[in-house]
Amino acid sequence: MKKGVFITFEGAEGSGKSTQIRNAASFFRHQKRQVVLLREPGGTRISEAIRSVLLDRGNRGMSHVTELLLYLSARAQIVHEKILPALRSGKVVICDRFEDSTLAYQGYGRGIPLPLIREVSRLVRGTLRPDLTFVLDIDIKKGLSRGGRHDRIEREAFSFHQKVRRGFLALARKEPRRVIVVDSGQPLPEVSRRVLEKLQNVFGE
Ligand code: TMP
Repeated sequence: MKKGVFITFEGAEGSGKSTQIRNAASFFRHQKRQVVLLREPGGTRISEAIRSVLLDRGNRGMSHVTELLLYLSARAQIVHEKILPALRSGKVVICDRFEDSTLAYQGYGRGIPLPLIREVSRLVRGTLRPDLTFVLDIDIKKGLSRGGRHDRIEREAFSFHQKVRRGFLALARKEPRRVIVVDSGQPLPEVSRRVLEKLQNVFGE
């Protein structure tokens, strides 16, 4: 049986992850591989329930620690219920966001120390790490105008989103082999070409 593959897509709001996730799924389906598409927070009954608490605009008073622990709880459930079983059976798992989002949003954005987040994250995901991560990098103004400012996180201040964007870029610099930054401000065909080229290099048959 083929070994499972775990790929994540990351980026600030409106960075165009959905289109690139579809491209990546087609790439692996052409190889006759079974693909599982997931999103975070979400992807299981419990995690989707946590997602609605996290994104509810009415929950303005949520503390940063509560927020962090809810994202991690949603992740613990999807790892246990969906990601690990799929990888064990040799499938390709493509996830819209994962731990880098927590480091970028709750770490760089909210100011919770990264070593603390990494420590608790070990409990959540064990030794599981993405094989490859794409960070789709977009100008914050452009991204927010594409995606809208509807949920609790999207409605955060511009400066918060700036810190998140810089956070993703800093994470990519620390792990350049795993984390690939793609300029998502380029014309769409060029963004897709960059993503597919990388997939071909790493997973091409
Ligand atoms: P989405 O809109 O891409 O589905 O993501 C939901 C929101 O949650 C988005 O604003 C990013 C944020 N988020 C965090 O703040 N921390 C996390 O760990 C994850 C996975 C998402």
